[in-house]
Amino acid sequence: QNDQYDEQYRNQFHYSSNENWINDPNGLFYDSSTGLYNLYYQYNPKGNQWGNMSWGHAVSKDLINWTQEDVAIPMLQNQGREDFTYTNTTGSLKDKGEVRYVGVPTTNWGDADGKKAIFSGSIVVDTNNVSGLGKDAILAFYTADYQIATRKNDGAEDGWGTWIGLTEIQEQHLAYSLDGGKTFIQYSKDGNAANPQAIIPTSMNQGGDSANFRDPSVVYDAVNKQYYLTVVSGQQALIYKSSNLLDWTYASKIERENDVGNGVWECPSLVPMKVAGTNETKWVFCISVQQGAHATGSGMQYYVGNMTADGTWVPESSKTLQNPMTMDSGEDFYAGIPFSNMPDGRTVMLAWESNWSYTGEANTTPWYGNMTLPRELTLEQNADTTDGYLLANTVIKEIANNEEANVIDQKNSTFSISSTDQKVQYDGKQYKISATFSWDESNKPSSVGFKLRVSDDKEYDMLVGYDLTTGLFFVQRLNTGEPNMGAPRDKMNATVNADGSITITVYVDETSIEAFANNGEKSITQNFFMRPENIGDQATNGVYVYSDNGTTNISNLTINPI
Ligand code: FRU
Repeated sequence: QNDQYDEQYRNQFHYSSNENWINDPNGLFYDSSTGLYNLYYQYNPKGNQWGNMSWGHAVSKDLINWTQEDVAIPMLQNQGREDFTYTNTTGSLKDKGEVRYVGVPTTNWGDADGKKAIFSGSIVVDTNNVSGLGKDAILAFYTADYQIATRKNDGAEDGWGTWIGLTEIQEQHLAYSLDGGKTFIQYSKDGNAANPQAIIPTSMNQGGDSANFRDPSVVYDAVNKQYYLTVVSGQQALIYKSSNLLDWTYASKIERENDVGNGVWECPSLVPMKVAGTNETKWVFCISVQQGAHATGSGMQYYVGNMTADGTWVPESSKTLQNPMTMDSGEDFYAGIPFSNMPDGRTVMLAWESNWSYTGEANTTPWYGNMTLPRELTLEQNADTTDGYLLANTVIKEIANNEEANVIDQKNSTFSISSTDQKVQYDGKQYKISATFSWDESNKPSSVGFKLRVSDDKEYDMLVGYDLTTGLFFVQRLNTGEPNMGAPRDKMNATVNADGSITITVYVDETSIEAFANNGEKSITQNFFMRPENIGDQATNGVYVYSDNGTTNISNLTINPI
């Protein structure tokens, strides 16, 4: 147990578990009876690498400062023994025909352990007790993941038989909590909580990919008065509908039309959102693509559409599904889902701040992984996009609870620089920095922005800027003395039409950077690991503004230590 959270590479204002591995956020919800936001997540209670998937848990009053709780949904135990004829591997198969082993095996099927892992999912508070599980029961929908191995009598004298198949199974389960989300009871139609049946078994998987059928997301449609459960199956999302949260019928599917590599879809969500400044509601379909997204490896996309009364999601136009929009243009914003039951109508999402392409190489210990800062999403009209809508995201306003007063005094907050960089008098490591950069056509620079985490010898830094020659807002992180983990791109980019000025806001934590252009029009989220073996023990706290090949006016420069 570590109370300090001060190890090398540990972020200070992002949620990470005290120790052990975490990935996707799960079951995010606000509990109006306690006033607590609840964050569950994919968690390995036993180590610093992926495995033994369970739902870890943390709570917060403000979505920023979290307290870790006990594991909320542990792996299911002893699932194989009752389901199937079970014999241990020392028994003879000669007079048995076939045996099946269920579990998450270790190295050899003799060890099939009868466990089912608890994969990602979502939570709905059953305010009107439509499920009959209890008024305000907290319903967690998750994927049970396990394998079935079959061994068959082959007639041989030794009686050992032969392995004849190994099948990966993913199916959707329900567990509910009557104690504020601390512990969960497994739901099963037959009442057998020790060995629960799926509410959406593989036989209901219209997508047909039994090994990639996961991550149920449940949401209420107030207009059509029904719930939807969206789950991925390979590269499709299947939508089921229900009025009691227990019995689900297949309604429709969303199919990928674009070609963005071979990654399966993961962690879908259908999010009803008002178009800013109107009374119109759109259903935004958010999806995580495991491989081959805009970034190296994993990344999130969204599509705008509408729901019909029969539970069909209809894309906004014939172009929608061919042009996925990028949720965050960095490499480390993945598996994000929205909070349910929000008290104030805001749409708030947080994501795992990582990417499946390099997890083993980050070398953080005794934990791995943290969440992004929570983001408030707004759906805005924007003529430059496929269907005329843009999902903007900004850090939620509650971050102000942790921000100290701005350290840049007013007389230093406005100035011009020409073809140079200039040091800003501040040398903290965790902060928010923001400024507006503007220029005249006559002496237009080629690139403007911040140099952050600059080393004393100026060899190492990270750029967050705007390239006027390409129209790209970018984070360039590969000059931080970190090894080439996975295959990160040197620059992560997002198109911004700056038109004479751009406002850049960046949240810098120990190994995390979240950069925003024009108050959330585009965002870029990146981890970075400044390695002492490369940079030595010199300080890497320098902050600079820069303007390449021209003059930039800088205004409203502020730094708030966090
Ligand atoms: C996404 C994911 C999910 C799955 C979980 C397993 O990062 O692969 O699809 O439920 O992680 O930990």
